[in-house]
Amino acid sequence: MKAISALYEAQKIVFSPFIFQTVYSMIELGILDAINNSNEGLDFDQISRETNVSKYGVTVLVEMAESAGIVDEISPGKFILSKIGYFILRDEMTQVNLKFTQDVCYNGLFYLKDSIVDASPEGLKVFGDWKTIYEGLSELPPMVKKSWFDFDHFYSDNSFSDALDVIFKNKPKMIFDIGGNTGKWAIASANFDSLVQVKIFDLPGQVKVAKSNIEKIDAIKDRVTFQEIDMLNQSSVIPAGADVYWMSQFLDCFSEHEIESILLKIKENASENATIFIMETFLDDQVFPAAKLSLAATSLYFTAMANGNSRMYSSRTLKYIIEKAGLKCVKEHDLHQDSFHTILEVKLN
Ligand SMILES: C[S@@+](CC[C@H](N)C(=O)[O-])C[C@H]1O[C@@H](n2cnc3c(N)ncnc32)[C@H](O)[C@@H]1O
Repeated sequence: MKAISALYEAQKIVFSPFIFQTVYSMIELGILDAINNSNEGLDFDQISRETNVSKYGVTVLVEMAESAGIVDEISPGKFILSKIGYFILRDEMTQVNLKFTQDVCYNGLFYLKDSIVDASPEGLKVFGDWKTIYEGLSELPPMVKKSWFDFDHFYSDNSFSDALDVIFKNKPKMIFDIGGNTGKWAIASANFDSLVQVKIFDLPGQVKVAKSNIEKIDAIKDRVTFQEIDMLNQSSVIPAGADVYWMSQFLDCFSEHEIESILLKIKENASENATIFIMETFLDDQVFPAAKLSLAATSLYFTAMANGNSRMYSSRTLKYIIEKAGLKCVKEHDLHQDSFHTILEVKLN
């Protein structure tokens, strides 16, 4: 890279909050949509008329967007959306990431350095006085909660149909869904197999939401049960009785040491034939640079907002912890056709 290009890229980084807020404002004010809807491009006056935003407002936003490559000036004073701008406006992953960044992380990320130094999620104080975001999830402001769940669901929902084929290969009768959240997996699996029973384990706030979602579905409500649990509590117990222990996007909420203790908690009462399935988006399994960058950013959400000590892991690290807990990873199911996920199939011996 030539020095002049490196200097330009460096400015994009140091001014990245300006660029981010420009993009967010242009979407909210309908400016990116207006530019996208025109074939020949629009000038400042036209954008201002179409969006009811002052010419001053349009000018400063569009000038920033042009310098950052989000819009292109095709003739003096006329702008169209660039390919980057198009992805920002229309790509689902980019939209979900944008709302998550703005609503959940933006203010709290100011405390990233403190979070690293103190090994605690210092940014979480912008929402409440909890030790982890999971304790307060059900009490977050509605918009923040929506963006959190949209982000969470985007990265698990698109993997569920492939995951069902993997998990139901040996026709489990009882699944323990640890970190079952709002019950999406329990609903998907109880609908997939009319005989299976599912027990959701989660913190009280999430169990309450899952219960109210599942109570409404007659076909499955008698086959789904619930147990409030704090997996970080030394004395909490995962009982015996499951053919399958399912943890989807769950272990990334914990430090390496905590993951080992969770696996040992499961191992304590699990039967010899039980299978533990761990579904994650692993750093070292990603093909696309956009996915890798999203995961690295998600790690920093854990640092500043969620718990201060967890991250998105590589499969190598998780397999090392599995072995350390005296368990055996017998197979890796790569779901990359349709999603970014891998399922590790783990046995007791
Ligand atoms: C990232 S979400 C994943 C949810 C779901 N399994 C999925 O695939 O979308 C993590 C879940 O773990 C739960 N969780 C976090 N810390 C926990 C703890 N200490 N004990 C029990 N559940 C916890 C959260 O409440 C949340 O429902």
